[in-house]
Amino acid sequence: MAFVKACALSELEDDTPKRVELDGTPVSVVRTEGEVFAINDICSHANVSLSEGEVEDCMIECWLHGSSFDLRTGKPSGLPATRPVPVYPVKIEGDDVLVSVTQET
Ligand code: FES
Repeated sequence: MAFVKACALSELEDDTPKRVELDGTPVSVVRTEGEVFAINDICSHANVSLSEGEVEDCMIECWLHGSSFDLRTGKPSGLPATRPVPVYPVKIEGDDVLVSVTQET
């Protein structure tokens, strides 16, 4: 599995998603609760960027209709979204945040 640099750890503010594009895949990188997560940036309900939503309790909320997705599993907590959003493995090396979009967790 190929890890590529998504951004610098020092650029990430807590609970403020950062949208990056890795190998053509839009990814939202989120630092929260002392960990860094990578989740596909597109809501599973419609074509909406999750990085524009809010982060709370390890969930990212879709701003359009309010479904929240677990940053660890990608599963939605409630309607209208019913399908999970892919999440990706993250590695931290020094100040580099590395993400593998070739493997979903
Ligand atoms: S577009 Fe995300 S919940 Fe509807």
